[in-house]
Amino acid sequence: MQSEIRKRLLELFSHSETEFISGQKISELLGCSRTAVWKHIEDLRAEGYEVNAIRKLGYQIKSKPDKISSNEIQLGLETRILGSSIHFEEVTTSTQKLAHKLAYEGVDEGTIVVTEEQTEGRGRLDRKWFSPKYTGIWMSLILRPNIPPTSAPQLTLLVAVGVAQAIQEVTGIEPDIKWPNDILVSGKKVVGILTELQAEPDRINSVIIGIGINVNQTQEQFPEPINNTATSLSIITGKKIDRALLLQQILLHIEKLYLTYLKNGFKVIKLLWESYAINIGHQMVARTIQGDIKGHALGITDDGVLKIQSDNGEIHLIHSADIEL
Ligand code: BTN
Repeated sequence: MQSEIRKRLLELFSHSETEFISGQKISELLGCSRTAVWKHIEDLRAEGYEVNAIRKLGYQIKSKPDKISSNEIQLGLETRILGSSIHFEEVTTSTQKLAHKLAYEGVDEGTIVVTEEQTEGRGRLDRKWFSPKYTGIWMSLILRPNIPPTSAPQLTLLVAVGVAQAIQEVTGIEPDIKWPNDILVSGKKVVGILTELQAEPDRINSVIIGIGINVNQTQEQFPEPINNTATSLSIITGKKIDRALLLQQILLHIEKLYLTYLKNGFKVIKLLWESYAINIGHQMVARTIQGDIKGHALGITDDGVLKIQSDNGEIHLIHSADIEL
Protein backbone atom coordinates (compact mmCIF):
# COMPACT_ATOMS: atom_id res chain seq x y z
CA MET A 1 0.00 0.00 0.00
CA GLN A 2 1.25 3.44 -0.88
CA SER A 3 1.17 5.95 1.91
CA GLU A 4 -0.97 9.06 1.39
CA ILE A 5 2.15 11.20 1.19
CA ARG A 6 3.61 8.96 -1.50
CA LYS A 7 0.43 9.30 -3.57
CA ARG A 8 0.54 13.07 -3.32
CA LEU A 9 4.22 13.11 -4.25
CA LEU A 10 3.53 11.10 -7.40
CA GLU A 11 0.60 13.37 -8.18
CA LEU A 12 2.88 16.40 -8.01
CA PHE A 13 5.22 14.88 -10.54
CA SER A 14 2.37 13.75 -12.78
CA HIS A 15 1.50 17.44 -13.33
CA SER A 16 5.01 18.29 -14.38
CA GLU A 17 6.53 15.45 -16.32
CA THR A 18 9.59 17.22 -17.62
CA GLU A 19 10.09 19.91 -15.01
CA PHE A 20 12.21 19.72 -11.90
CA ILE A 21 10.54 20.37 -8.56
CA SER A 22 12.75 21.59 -5.77
CA GLY A 23 13.02 19.68 -2.51
CA GLN A 24 11.93 22.84 -0.70
CA LYS A 25 8.76 23.17 -2.78
CA ILE A 26 7.89 19.50 -2.35
CA SER A 27 8.36 19.71 1.39
CA GLU A 28 6.09 22.79 1.54
CA LEU A 29 3.38 21.26 -0.64
CA LEU A 30 3.39 17.97 1.20
CA GLY A 31 3.90 19.45 4.65
CA CYS A 32 6.87 17.29 5.53
CA SER A 33 10.60 17.82 6.14
CA ARG A 34 13.26 17.89 3.39
CA THR A 35 14.70 14.72 4.92
CA ALA A 36 11.30 13.02 4.58
CA VAL A 37 11.14 14.11 0.93
CA TRP A 38 14.58 12.62 0.30
CA LYS A 39 13.49 9.38 2.00
CA HIS A 40 10.39 9.12 -0.21
CA ILE A 41 12.50 9.75 -3.32
CA GLU A 42 14.86 6.96 -2.26
CA ASP A 43 11.86 4.65 -1.79
CA LEU A 44 10.65 5.50 -5.29
CA ARG A 45 14.07 4.67 -6.68
CA ALA A 46 14.05 1.36 -4.85
CA GLU A 47 10.73 0.62 -6.57
CA GLY A 48 12.19 1.22 -10.01
CA TYR A 49 11.48 4.91 -10.60
CA GLU A 50 14.34 6.68 -12.34
CA VAL A 51 14.67 9.98 -10.50
CA ASN A 52 17.03 12.75 -11.56
CA ALA A 53 18.29 14.92 -8.75
CA ILE A 54 20.15 18.11 -9.65
CA ARG A 55 21.42 20.58 -7.11
CA LYS A 56 19.56 23.89 -7.21
CA LEU A 57 16.94 22.45 -9.58
CA GLY A 58 15.47 19.64 -7.50
CA TYR A 59 13.95 16.33 -8.57
CA GLN A 60 12.52 15.03 -11.84
CA ILE A 61 10.95 11.63 -12.49
CA LYS A 62 12.58 10.39 -15.67
CA SER A 63 10.82 7.08 -16.00
CA LYS A 64 8.29 5.04 -14.08
CA PRO A 65 8.64 1.36 -13.35
CA ASP A 66 6.82 -0.98 -15.65
CA LYS A 67 4.09 -2.15 -13.29
CA ILE A 68 1.06 -4.35 -13.71
CA SER A 69 -2.18 -3.62 -11.88
CA SER A 70 -5.83 -4.68 -12.22
CA ASN A 71 -6.55 -1.40 -14.00
CA GLU A 72 -3.79 -1.84 -16.52
CA ILE A 73 -4.90 -5.38 -17.29
CA GLN A 74 -8.54 -4.35 -17.67
CA LEU A 75 -7.92 -1.28 -19.80
CA GLY A 76 -8.18 -2.49 -23.41
CA LEU A 77 -8.72 -6.17 -22.53
CA GLU A 78 -10.80 -7.73 -25.33
CA THR A 79 -11.75 -11.05 -23.75
CA ARG A 80 -15.16 -12.21 -22.59
CA ILE A 81 -14.23 -14.95 -20.12
CA LEU A 82 -10.55 -14.77 -19.21
CA GLY A 83 -9.92 -11.88 -16.87
CA SER A 84 -13.64 -11.30 -16.22
CA SER A 85 -12.51 -11.24 -12.60
CA ILE A 86 -8.96 -10.21 -11.71
CA HIS A 87 -7.28 -10.90 -8.38
CA PHE A 88 -4.16 -8.78 -8.26
CA GLU A 89 -1.62 -8.88 -5.44
CA GLU A 90 1.55 -6.81 -5.35
CA VAL A 91 3.30 -9.77 -3.73
CA THR A 92 2.11 -13.26 -2.86
CA THR A 93 3.58 -16.67 -2.08
CA SER A 94 2.31 -18.25 -5.31
CA THR A 95 -0.56 -17.31 -7.63
CA GLN A 96 -1.12 -21.03 -8.02
CA LYS A 97 -1.73 -21.44 -4.32
CA LEU A 98 -4.10 -18.47 -4.21
CA ALA A 99 -5.95 -19.66 -7.34
CA HIS A 100 -6.48 -23.10 -5.76
CA LYS A 101 -8.07 -21.44 -2.75
CA LEU A 102 -10.30 -19.20 -4.86
CA ALA A 103 -11.31 -22.08 -7.14
CA TYR A 104 -12.26 -24.13 -4.11
CA GLU A 105 -14.35 -21.21 -2.82
CA GLY A 106 -16.26 -21.27 -6.11
CA VAL A 107 -15.09 -18.23 -8.12
CA ASP A 108 -16.26 -18.00 -11.73
CA GLU A 109 -14.51 -19.56 -14.68
CA GLY A 110 -12.09 -17.07 -16.21
CA THR A 111 -10.93 -15.64 -12.89
CA ILE A 112 -7.23 -14.81 -13.07
CA VAL A 113 -4.72 -14.33 -10.27
CA VAL A 114 -1.79 -12.05 -11.06
CA THR A 115 1.08 -10.80 -8.96
CA GLU A 116 4.21 -8.71 -9.34
CA GLU A 117 6.32 -11.02 -7.17
CA GLN A 118 6.08 -14.58 -5.87
CA THR A 119 8.00 -15.53 -2.78
CA GLU A 120 7.28 -19.26 -3.18
CA GLY A 121 6.69 -19.62 -6.93
CA ARG A 122 6.71 -23.27 -7.90
CA GLY A 123 7.19 -25.19 -11.09
CA ARG A 124 6.59 -28.74 -12.25
CA LEU A 125 7.92 -31.61 -10.17
CA ASP A 126 7.92 -29.34 -7.11
CA ARG A 127 10.76 -27.23 -8.40
CA LYS A 128 11.12 -23.59 -7.43
CA TRP A 129 10.03 -20.98 -9.93
CA PHE A 130 12.09 -17.83 -9.71
CA SER A 131 9.64 -14.87 -9.83
CA PRO A 132 11.31 -11.55 -9.02
CA LYS A 133 9.42 -8.26 -8.73
CA TYR A 134 8.38 -6.25 -11.82
CA THR A 135 10.19 -8.44 -14.32
CA GLY A 136 7.81 -11.16 -15.43
CA ILE A 137 4.26 -12.34 -15.78
CA TRP A 138 3.26 -14.57 -12.88
CA MET A 139 -0.34 -15.58 -13.33
CA SER A 140 -2.80 -18.42 -12.73
CA LEU A 141 -6.02 -18.96 -14.68
CA ILE A 142 -9.08 -20.77 -13.38
CA LEU A 143 -11.08 -22.72 -15.97
CA ARG A 144 -14.08 -24.97 -15.44
CA PRO A 145 -14.41 -26.98 -18.66
CA ASN A 146 -16.91 -29.76 -18.98
CA ILE A 147 -14.35 -32.39 -20.06
CA PRO A 148 -13.13 -35.60 -18.43
CA PRO A 149 -10.03 -35.29 -16.19
CA THR A 150 -8.07 -37.44 -18.67
CA SER A 151 -8.40 -34.67 -21.29
CA ALA A 152 -6.87 -32.01 -19.05
CA PRO A 153 -3.34 -32.35 -20.57
CA GLN A 154 -4.86 -31.03 -23.81
CA LEU A 155 -5.44 -27.73 -22.02
CA THR A 156 -1.75 -27.50 -21.13
CA LEU A 157 -0.87 -27.76 -24.81
CA LEU A 158 -3.61 -25.28 -25.71
CA VAL A 159 -2.24 -22.74 -23.26
CA ALA A 160 1.30 -23.23 -24.58
CA VAL A 161 0.06 -22.44 -28.11
CA GLY A 162 -1.83 -19.34 -26.90
CA VAL A 163 1.21 -18.01 -25.06
CA ALA A 164 3.48 -18.73 -28.05
CA GLN A 165 1.09 -16.89 -30.40
CA ALA A 166 0.91 -13.86 -28.08
CA ILE A 167 4.71 -13.71 -27.72
CA GLN A 168 5.06 -13.84 -31.49
CA GLU A 169 2.52 -11.07 -31.95
CA VAL A 170 3.86 -8.69 -29.29
CA THR A 171 7.62 -9.24 -29.72
CA GLY A 172 8.09 -10.69 -33.22
CA ILE A 173 10.01 -13.63 -31.71
CA GLU A 174 9.14 -17.09 -33.05
CA PRO A 175 9.22 -19.33 -29.98
CA ASP A 176 9.45 -23.13 -29.84
CA ILE A 177 7.42 -25.45 -27.63
CA LYS A 178 9.13 -28.38 -25.97
CA TRP A 179 6.66 -31.07 -24.92
CA PRO A 180 4.63 -30.72 -22.92
CA ASN A 181 4.70 -27.05 -22.14
CA ASP A 182 8.05 -25.33 -21.99
CA ILE A 183 8.39 -22.39 -24.33
CA LEU A 184 11.95 -21.88 -25.49
CA VAL A 185 13.76 -19.34 -27.58
CA SER A 186 17.15 -20.35 -29.03
CA GLY A 187 17.08 -23.38 -26.74
CA LYS A 188 16.58 -21.38 -23.53
CA LYS A 189 13.48 -21.40 -21.38
CA VAL A 190 11.28 -18.32 -21.40
CA VAL A 191 7.93 -19.71 -20.22
CA GLY A 192 6.82 -22.47 -17.86
CA ILE A 193 3.26 -23.74 -17.54
CA LEU A 194 1.89 -25.72 -14.63
CA THR A 195 -1.54 -27.35 -14.97
CA GLU A 196 -3.29 -28.68 -11.88
CA LEU A 197 -6.77 -30.04 -11.28
CA GLN A 198 -9.42 -29.96 -8.64
CA ALA A 199 -11.38 -32.99 -9.77
CA GLU A 200 -13.40 -36.05 -8.91
CA PRO A 201 -12.59 -39.33 -10.69
CA ASP A 202 -14.92 -38.56 -13.59
CA ARG A 203 -15.43 -34.81 -13.35
CA ILE A 204 -13.33 -31.66 -13.34
CA ASN A 205 -14.26 -28.97 -10.84
CA SER A 206 -11.56 -26.62 -11.96
CA VAL A 207 -8.30 -26.50 -13.86
CA ILE A 208 -5.70 -24.14 -12.44
CA ILE A 209 -3.18 -23.15 -15.07
CA GLY A 210 -0.10 -21.33 -13.81
CA ILE A 211 1.90 -19.38 -16.37
CA GLY A 212 5.34 -17.96 -15.62
CA ILE A 213 7.03 -15.78 -18.23
CA ASN A 214 10.49 -14.27 -18.07
CA VAL A 215 9.86 -10.91 -19.68
CA ASN A 216 12.21 -8.12 -18.65
CA GLN A 217 14.99 -9.76 -16.65
CA THR A 218 18.61 -9.13 -17.51
CA GLN A 219 20.82 -12.23 -17.78
CA GLU A 220 22.55 -11.33 -14.50
CA GLN A 221 19.18 -11.41 -12.74
CA PHE A 222 18.87 -15.17 -13.20
CA PRO A 223 20.37 -17.03 -10.27
CA GLU A 224 23.08 -19.64 -10.67
CA PRO A 225 21.18 -22.90 -11.25
CA ILE A 226 19.14 -21.48 -14.16
CA ASN A 227 21.55 -18.85 -15.42
CA ASN A 228 22.59 -20.98 -18.40
CA THR A 229 19.21 -22.44 -19.25
CA ALA A 230 16.82 -19.48 -18.90
CA THR A 231 16.45 -16.24 -20.79
CA SER A 232 13.94 -13.40 -21.04
CA LEU A 233 12.04 -11.82 -23.94
CA SER A 234 13.82 -8.56 -23.31
CA ILE A 235 17.27 -10.16 -23.52
CA ILE A 236 16.31 -11.65 -26.88
CA THR A 237 14.77 -8.53 -28.40
CA GLY A 238 17.09 -6.02 -26.74
CA LYS A 239 13.99 -4.03 -25.77
CA LYS A 240 11.84 -3.63 -22.70
CA ILE A 241 8.51 -5.39 -23.22
CA ASP A 242 5.15 -3.97 -22.12
CA ARG A 243 4.07 -6.70 -19.71
CA ALA A 244 0.45 -5.56 -19.36
CA LEU A 245 0.01 -5.63 -23.15
CA LEU A 246 1.60 -9.07 -23.42
CA LEU A 247 -0.64 -10.35 -20.62
CA GLN A 248 -3.75 -9.04 -22.40
CA GLN A 249 -2.72 -10.70 -25.68
CA ILE A 250 -2.05 -13.98 -23.88
CA LEU A 251 -5.55 -13.95 -22.41
CA LEU A 252 -7.04 -13.12 -25.80
CA HIS A 253 -5.19 -15.89 -27.66
CA ILE A 254 -5.89 -18.51 -24.99
CA GLU A 255 -9.57 -17.57 -24.91
CA LYS A 256 -9.93 -17.89 -28.70
CA LEU A 257 -8.27 -21.32 -28.64
CA TYR A 258 -10.32 -22.39 -25.62
CA LEU A 259 -13.62 -21.50 -27.31
CA THR A 260 -12.53 -23.36 -30.48
CA TYR A 261 -11.54 -26.33 -28.34
CA LEU A 262 -14.85 -26.45 -26.46
CA LYS A 263 -16.75 -26.29 -29.76
CA ASN A 264 -14.62 -28.46 -32.06
CA GLY A 265 -12.33 -30.53 -29.85
CA PHE A 266 -8.55 -30.91 -29.80
CA LYS A 267 -7.83 -31.46 -33.53
CA VAL A 268 -7.06 -27.87 -34.54
CA ILE A 269 -5.14 -27.21 -31.32
CA LYS A 270 -3.03 -30.32 -31.97
CA LEU A 271 -2.09 -29.06 -35.44
CA LEU A 272 -1.17 -25.65 -34.09
CA TRP A 273 0.82 -27.18 -31.24
CA GLU A 274 2.75 -29.37 -33.72
CA SER A 275 3.66 -26.28 -35.75
CA TYR A 276 5.57 -24.93 -32.72
CA ALA A 277 6.95 -28.24 -31.41
CA ILE A 278 10.71 -28.74 -31.56
CA ASN A 279 11.16 -32.21 -30.19
CA ILE A 280 8.89 -34.22 -32.46
CA GLY A 281 10.76 -36.39 -34.99
CA HIS A 282 13.97 -36.27 -32.94
CA GLN A 283 15.89 -38.57 -30.63
CA MET A 284 15.26 -37.74 -26.98
CA VAL A 285 15.40 -39.01 -23.47
CA ALA A 286 12.22 -38.83 -21.41
CA ARG A 287 13.05 -38.87 -17.71
CA THR A 288 9.96 -40.32 -16.03
CA ILE A 289 9.32 -41.38 -12.44
CA GLN A 290 9.55 -44.99 -13.65
CA GLY A 291 12.94 -44.39 -15.28
CA ASP A 292 14.50 -43.02 -18.48
CA ILE A 293 13.08 -43.83 -21.89
CA LYS A 294 15.38 -43.18 -24.83
CA GLY A 295 14.03 -43.10 -28.33
CA HIS A 296 12.52 -41.29 -31.27
CA ALA A 297 9.60 -38.93 -30.58
CA LEU A 298 6.84 -39.90 -32.99
CA GLY A 299 4.34 -37.22 -32.05
CA ILE A 300 1.47 -36.65 -29.66
CA THR A 301 -1.76 -38.62 -29.42
CA ASP A 302 -5.18 -37.03 -29.77
CA ASP A 303 -5.11 -36.67 -25.98
CA GLY A 304 -1.85 -34.74 -25.98
CA VAL A 305 0.22 -37.68 -24.72
CA LEU A 306 3.78 -38.03 -26.09
CA LYS A 307 4.60 -41.14 -28.19
CA ILE A 308 8.20 -42.35 -28.14
CA GLN A 309 9.57 -45.33 -30.03
CA SER A 310 12.56 -46.84 -28.30
CA ASP A 311 15.40 -48.46 -30.24
CA ASN A 312 13.87 -51.95 -29.87
CA GLY A 313 10.74 -50.72 -31.66
CA GLU A 314 8.55 -50.56 -28.57
CA ILE A 315 6.16 -47.60 -28.39
CA HIS A 316 5.82 -45.76 -25.09
CA LEU A 317 3.09 -43.32 -24.12
CA ILE A 318 4.51 -40.61 -21.89
CA HIS A 319 2.10 -38.68 -19.69
CA SER A 320 4.62 -36.79 -17.61
CA ALA A 321 8.40 -36.45 -17.93
CA ASP A 322 11.34 -34.15 -18.24
CA ILE A 323 12.60 -34.16 -21.79
CA GLU A 324 16.23 -33.99 -22.81
CA LEU A 325 16.98 -33.45 -26.46
C1 BTN B 1 7.48 -25.17 -14.96
O1 BTN B 1 7.99 -24.99 -16.06
O2 BTN B 1 8.02 -25.89 -14.13
C2 BTN B 1 6.17 -24.49 -14.63
C3 BTN B 1 6.37 -23.13 -14.02
C4 BTN B 1 5.07 -22.43 -13.66
C5 BTN B 1 5.32 -21.12 -12.96
C6 BTN B 1 4.05 -20.35 -12.74
S1 BTN B 1 4.32 -18.68 -12.27
C7 BTN B 1 2.64 -18.47 -11.90
C8 BTN B 1 2.19 -19.74 -11.23
N1 BTN B 1 2.45 -19.70 -9.81
C9 BTN B 1 3.36 -20.59 -9.43
O3 BTN B 1 3.77 -20.75 -8.27
N2 BTN B 1 3.77 -21.31 -10.48
C10 BTN B 1 3.10 -20.90 -11.70
